[in-house]
Amino acid sequence: MKTIQLARTGQQVSEVCLGTMLMGSTIDEATSFAMLDRFLELGGRFLDTANCYAWWMGRGEFVGDESEELLGRWMRSRGNRHQVFLATKVGARLRNVAAIRDAGGDVFWDRVDDERERQTAETIRQAVEDSLRRLQTDYIDLYYSHLDDRETPLEERLRVFGDLVAAGKVRLLGASNYRTWRLERARQISAANGWPQFVTIQQQSSYLRPRPDADFGTAVNLDAELADYLGANPEVALLAYSPLLKGIYEDEAKRNAYYNWSKFQGPDATARLATLSALAAELDVTNSQLVLAWLLHRRPATIPMITGSTLAQLVHNLAAVEISLTPEQVARLDAAGA
Ligand SMILES: NC(=O)c1ccc[n+]([C@@H]2O[C@H](COP(=O)([O-])OP(=O)(O)OC[C@H]3O[C@@H](n4cnc5c(N)ncnc54)[C@H](OP(=O)(O)O)[C@@H]3O)[C@@H](O)[C@H]2O)c1
Repeated sequence: MKTIQLARTGQQVSEVCLGTMLMGSTIDEATSFAMLDRFLELGGRFLDTANCYAWWMGRGEFVGDESEELLGRWMRSRGNRHQVFLATKVGARLRNVAAIRDAGGDVFWDRVDDERERQTAETIRQAVEDSLRRLQTDYIDLYYSHLDDRETPLEERLRVFGDLVAAGKVRLLGASNYRTWRLERARQISAANGWPQFVTIQQQSSYLRPRPDADFGTAVNLDAELADYLGANPEVALLAYSPLLKGIYEDEAKRNAYYNWSKFQGPDATARLATLSALAAELDVTNSQLVLAWLLHRRPATIPMITGSTLAQLVHNLAAVEISLTPEQVARLDAAGA
């Protein structure tokens, strides 16, 4: 696995980031530790978590502390905090997890927006301390605003993020699920005040493209506007989350059962799946591996957030870094569809 510079920060990171969202909740501790150990053995250094992973799994037994806590235990047991580049997030935690489930454990999804923490100065100051405690560390390498809270002024969160960098609790800042104009506005406000700017943007992005009319709620997909912005602003790095769209690329039944499938389904998806499958067969790799390899080759430059539910899935997916695509093969994949 290659090491690359993160945007223009001078910080070196692995070319892929390991998503640890389900570790500690649906992925048990032994399996999670094995996945983290293997990622490091293969040269991986970039880990992603959040202060809310993964409250929505299970039937009410998880609160959102689980992934950070597991990472804290793993880094402590391996004594390797200094070897990893650790990203976590604030802004998507729920104030009261119990309030959004019925007696049987089903989530009231329509109540989640109201129950989510706001990015006030007070909340962020407390959240960072809580994350540091769970992670058993005294600094976070990359601290994200998990989504764009439009109910609190950007200035308020950017000022407190600046304070956290000045205090050494946070090293770099990132945004996730921000529209391009909001990312740019935030960067302008930070620059005008002499505060550190966002250096990463983390959006949903895969090979299949969302339908133009698709509504993902608070989740924001990479779009043409952001791709254009990133081409002109290499001081912001792109991370692609859910790169496999929950593993739908090989299995039609899984595709049809995917809760967001209707937001991708259509002639564009059909054409892209056909091109993807044909090239994957030629290269003797799986569709999932080719999606990840394409993300590593395409423009805008992308750091895919790779994961799996099992060690075998993760190892399979990480093999994508060995796939070398020619410019013609990338162009063939790019051109497929509408
Ligand atoms: N910023 C944000 O708002 C945001 C949102 C979501 C995620 N993220 C980050 O991005 C990371 C990755 O997101 P994600 O979990 O949604 O990624 P994903 O790659 O879209 O989905 C991962 C799931 O796909 C299935 N899968 C993985 N490899 C497979 C393979 N080779 N063949 C078939 N199925 C496969 C597994 O589910 P099965 O158990 O069904 O096999 C696995 O749990 C997270 O860990 C988190 O760090 C960030």
